[in-house]
Amino acid sequence: MTEPRMLVFAGSTRSASTNKKLARLAASEAEAAGGKVTLIDLREFPMPLYDGDLEAASGIPAEGLRFKALLKEHQGLLIASPEYNSSITGVLKNAIDWASRPEPGEPSLIAFKRKVALIMSASPGGLGGLRGLVHLRSILGNIDVLVLPEQIAISKAHESFAEDGSLKDPRQAEAVRKMTQRLVDVVRQLHAS
Ligand SMILES: Cc1cc2nc3c(=O)[nH]c(=O)nc-3n(C[C@H](O)[C@H](O)[C@H](O)COP(=O)(O)O)c2cc1C
Repeated sequence: MTEPRMLVFAGSTRSASTNKKLARLAASEAEAAGGKVTLIDLREFPMPLYDGDLEAASGIPAEGLRFKALLKEHQGLLIASPEYNSSITGVLKNAIDWASRPEPGEPSLIAFKRKVALIMSASPGGLGGLRGLVHLRSILGNIDVLVLPEQIAISKAHESFAEDGSLKDPRQAEAVRKMTQRLVDVVRQLHAS
């Protein structure tokens, strides 16, 4: 295989999102590890809330199709998501829900099957969004994504990033570097041939 392709995004659309910072950092580490990275912002994929009647009438909306097409083109997923009320954000769940829907004649869950994911979170709170990661791991696992055991939850996230986007704590920075490197390595090994 050539370069393992990584799709990186945050579960927050906020301009000053700490999870976007974490996603950007992980994207640059994935690139340094030899991955071919596509960093996207879910704000650029404004999908309506999933509605079965809307799908029956007009199929998956254009932005959902665009997001789903990107998932299909990448073997690795790197997701940094905040925790909202102890779970994942509505924006992230809605995007996953639309992308999980098959188009006519398509095998089920084609956008997720055989993908490898690394999940991360950042929150101003003390748990760093850890409870959301439990749900995200479960959701992705149930749609056939292999989720790496490594993960990181950055607490006090509003104070954790330097101006240049790096993590101030060298242990956290090293952890992100190592787990991102592992994602690239696992994708390379699983998809070799
Ligand atoms: C609706 C809502 C629910 C939230 N629930 C939680 C929560 O359960 N746990 C937590 O640590 N932070 C919670 N937060 C705070 C977010 O972690 C915080 O806004 C964070 O900065 C969002 O991530 P971002 O910086 O990437 O946008 C919540 C925020 C919102 C808007």
